[in-house]
Amino acid sequence: MAGGLRIGILVSGRGSNMQAIVDGCADGSIPGAVVAVISDTESAPALERARRAGVEAMFVDPWAYSCRAEFEDAVGDLLEERSVHLVLLAGFMRVLKPGFIRRFKGRIMNIHPSLLPSFPGIEAQRQAIEYGVKWSGCTVHFVDDGVDTGPIVIQAAVPVEDGDTAETLAEKILCEEHRIYPEAVRLFAQGRLVVEGRHVRVLPPRGVV
Ligand code: GRF
Repeated sequence: MAGGLRIGILVSGRGSNMQAIVDGCADGSIPGAVVAVISDTESAPALERARRAGVEAMFVDPWAYSCRAEFEDAVGDLLEERSVHLVLLAGFMRVLKPGFIRRFKGRIMNIHPSLLPSFPGIEAQRQAIEYGVKWSGCTVHFVDDGVDTGPIVIQAAVPVEDGDTAETLAEKILCEEHRIYPEAVRLFAQGRLVVEGRHVRVLPPRGVV
């Protein structure tokens, strides 16, 4: 097993962001390794993608537990058993409860397809189109108890052009997601992110003053 940061990724669907992180670890740009991918959806293509990349991929059935907290405890146990230090949400379609967030405090990140705090929640790209904004984008943030409200690590903007639909905008944003999520994970793995209240400061690389 490669050294460095041990990463666990929670997914529900396609898994293109998961793939970008796995690729970043494989090409050495992220000093770490994805050691577990967990999905709440058995048919998530992300699981197959992870297995193809040689990453342990597990389906945890939320309906097998009597409540959400119990399901999240089980997910947390799987991550801890694998000594996961950083938990990434990558298209994970559930809002985590405070108990899980406390357990991995300051060590959970999410990617959201809008320039937060605009358009939190589901269908962010559709919300942006319907609102008529001229720019949208994506945000990597630490996860707190709210929905898409945690301290912001990196954002990238994309223009919304005449004729854009939720689908074309989503495609443009996705390209940026695949760039900034691995970048945020790299900074975390290098110990360069300092959270001060709502603000995330990025320290210079070691050796640079
Ligand atoms: C991405 O747009 C991400 O921002 C959002 O869900 C989507 C997941 O896509 N949270 P993928 O599964 O990573 O391809």
